[in-house]
Amino acid sequence: MTPGIKPLIAGNWKMNGLTASLMQLRTIVGARTGQAAGRRDVLVCVPATLIQAAAGIAGDSDVLIGGQDCHAEVSGAHTGDISAEMIADSGARAVIVGHSERRTDHGEGNSLIRAKAEAALRAGLLPVICIGETLAERQAQRTLDVLDAQLDGSLPASAAIVIAYEPVWAIGTGLTPTLGNIAEAHGFLRERLAARHGERANAIRLLYGGSVKPDNAAEILAVEHVDGALVGGASLKAGDFLGICNAA
Ligand code: PGA
Repeated sequence: MTPGIKPLIAGNWKMNGLTASLMQLRTIVGARTGQAAGRRDVLVCVPATLIQAAAGIAGDSDVLIGGQDCHAEVSGAHTGDISAEMIADSGARAVIVGHSERRTDHGEGNSLIRAKAEAALRAGLLPVICIGETLAERQAQRTLDVLDAQLDGSLPASAAIVIAYEPVWAIGTGLTPTLGNIAEAHGFLRERLAARHGERANAIRLLYGGSVKPDNAAEILAVEHVDGALVGGASLKAGDFLGICNAA
């Protein structure tokens, strides 16, 4: 953890979830209600089809609802796309941008991701900007260079952002970097953010993502400069997600 930063545990449901899955969210909200308020922030990024219903369930609890991607423009002829303003209008408070699955499946590059992060800020949403190296890049010992280039290319000027470091090879695989590797990446990111934003960088939360589970969450969250987690698979079951929330 970074001293003075409130941890954020964010769930990413990806392309999972029908109306019936909102039961999981009800359980999460129910379990959070009455817990010591303010110790950590909890965010659940559901598919766009569920944002409005999810926001209704979250109500004024401390569980925030988020989207998983947005278009960079406010509106226009972009069939099938959803703007940040639409996501905010549905009741979301945050949106993930630049997830490696968007980078791979949709060929999204750093400059588009920066435009999306700017769109999120314009709409009053907190952008959760994902970066991370592939296995080939790690094996070639290029991790820090890749992270540096992704920071430079995809971050907006504002410091009102969250960054998620997600090694691509750790996502959905059950593999995680060593705690030392996580510490190295997060320490490097913290330094680069300080060079970029000065004091304001201290408020930027750096999440780790990639195969976070209830049984490894506590040790990962204890690593210096890990200010929370972005959780995919384990966010789909309320019990697992709450276990991770309680580890923060
Ligand atoms: P995972 O996904 O927890 O299933 O590895 C993380 C993510 O893609 O954000």
